[in-house]
Amino acid sequence: MSDPRPIGLFDSGVGGLTVLEAVARRMPFEDLLYLGDTARLPYGTKSPETVRRYARRAIGFLLAQDVKAVVVACNTASALALDAIEEMSPVPVVGVVAPGAEAAVAAARASDPAGQRVPIAVLATEATVVSDAYGHAIRALDPGRDVTHTACPLFVPLAEEGWTENEVARAAAALYLADVARSGARVVVLGCTHYPLLAGTIAGALPKGTVLVDSAETAARAVEAALPLAFRRGEASHGSTRLLVTDASDRLRRVAGRFLGRPAADLTLVDLL
Ligand code: DGL
Repeated sequence: MSDPRPIGLFDSGVGGLTVLEAVARRMPFEDLLYLGDTARLPYGTKSPETVRRYARRAIGFLLAQDVKAVVVACNTASALALDAIEEMSPVPVVGVVAPGAEAAVAAARASDPAGQRVPIAVLATEATVVSDAYGHAIRALDPGRDVTHTACPLFVPLAEEGWTENEVARAAAALYLADVARSGARVVVLGCTHYPLLAGTIAGALPKGTVLVDSAETAARAVEAALPLAFRRGEASHGSTRLLVTDASDRLRRVAGRFLGRPAADLTLVDLL
């Protein structure tokens, strides 16, 4: 049995392409339909009501394309709107917060010194930080674990600009992460689609040996787990990828290329209104 419908992926922009790549590596036979709401990016500085409104509209669009699952690759939308998305979706929904929390707890347990539980630090957008979604998800798996949150809003434009390893990025990381570096946290969650691009600089601002958790791989595993065999595409097929965006420009193509690690394939402009 085989289900030829595509898997839908949604992000506020093109940062979620790292999740798309992880899903494509894990399930190369699946068609992937990606929607980046680039006209409304960033979500991370907006109010919860607005993030939910935007996310619902984008997911409504993806569902109308007859997708067989929805992957919310945007941390901010996962943190603030997953319940609203699940409510409206007849197909399985996978966010990135739960897989990220799971990976963080596993990494923390593996690196805790005997008899101690060191805090987990979450780096994310302001909206995700305020929601405490990672804190909830981590404490649900590991009650009593301390979770600290740090908003690093400048990391988003730095990643888009390609300024991930220069003195501006290092200065921003040093300022944002001074408290995290002192906190004793050994596991740091990159709780925003853009932060993995700054992983080297972030690691450089933290004590040696700090484990950085990027939820792309664990989210891809969660997508596989959410799709029972009957909903997979035949393994003999070769999956295609379609990238839809709500605003397209040469700049966006450049930025998308940074996340994909190769020139961005065709971006198709769509309107959600
Ligand atoms: N995609 C967002 C996230 O992962 C970052 C960009 C934005 O603020 O929209 O939180």
